[in-house]
Amino acid sequence: MEHIELGWNDFWAEIFRVKHRRAIQGIQDYDRLVVDFCIGVMGLKKDNEILDIACGSGDQSIEFARKGVKVTAFDISETLIRVARERAKSENVPIGFSVGDMRAMSFTQQFNAAVLLSHSFGFFNHEVNRRILGDVFAALKKSGKLLLDLMNPYNLPRFHKTWTELEGGYLLSEPHMLDAPAGVLRGRPALFVDTEHDRIVLMDSDALSNNDIRMYTALEIHAMLNEVGFKKVEFYGQNTLPRMPYSAGSERMVVVATK
Ligand SMILES: C[S@@+](CC[C@H](N)C(=O)[O-])C[C@H]1O[C@@H](n2cnc3c(N)ncnc32)[C@H](O)[C@@H]1O
Repeated sequence: MEHIELGWNDFWAEIFRVKHRRAIQGIQDYDRLVVDFCIGVMGLKKDNEILDIACGSGDQSIEFARKGVKVTAFDISETLIRVARERAKSENVPIGFSVGDMRAMSFTQQFNAAVLLSHSFGFFNHEVNRRILGDVFAALKKSGKLLLDLMNPYNLPRFHKTWTELEGGYLLSEPHMLDAPAGVLRGRPALFVDTEHDRIVLMDSDALSNNDIRMYTALEIHAMLNEVGFKKVEFYGQNTLPRMPYSAGSERMVVVATK
């Protein structure tokens, strides 16, 4: 079998964020619950504007739009934005789409709220991560809210090596490993046995470089948010209702910051 290395946008984005995600049972119900939580906790009203940063294939953007919130769905992957746009069109929900890098956002006082869901924060070094929070602050209107839906660094999920059958082949996901001294959750290379094209697809260096996530504690996130100007910072222990207090054993660490 031929071995080939492919990148995030060319190949892996669709495998992970479309084929793998949509194969998860009950994922649409989960997205609805997460969006209901976000709308409630941020006090969003109909026609308020939200920036869904790192929106992936737009599954939550679509749920926000269904609730009457005006969404700008933003992601680095053209492939994912195309998939999200097609789905929004077929479901007849209005959404604005934007392909872009969260390290180079230039929105100014445009949004009532911004979200980074499914732990889409911490991909870069500390300075860059903090700059992104500053750019989100600039993108929000006065009293705007930012919601970060993060894994709880004190209660990480148990990652396993898994084989998953997907359309066109089999995905091998290796478990993430916590590099505790560096405070980084290191993703490991995945592999796809592409039975349609009789080849094994590996991650290229670009896809691999996006695999690491800096894990912040609540205190560190709080300090960063204050540094970039957010006044009020609250923490919750899950990303669905009811609102649960955050603790070491919580399922998630959800951060809501107010400008
Ligand atoms: C964990 S996924 C989350 C997707 C979606 N929010 C969800 O909950 O299903 C992370 C997303 O971040 C996007 N991404 C990675 N680096 C990015 C960057 N520099 N700027 C914008 N998006 C980025 C990826 O393309 C991917 O869709």
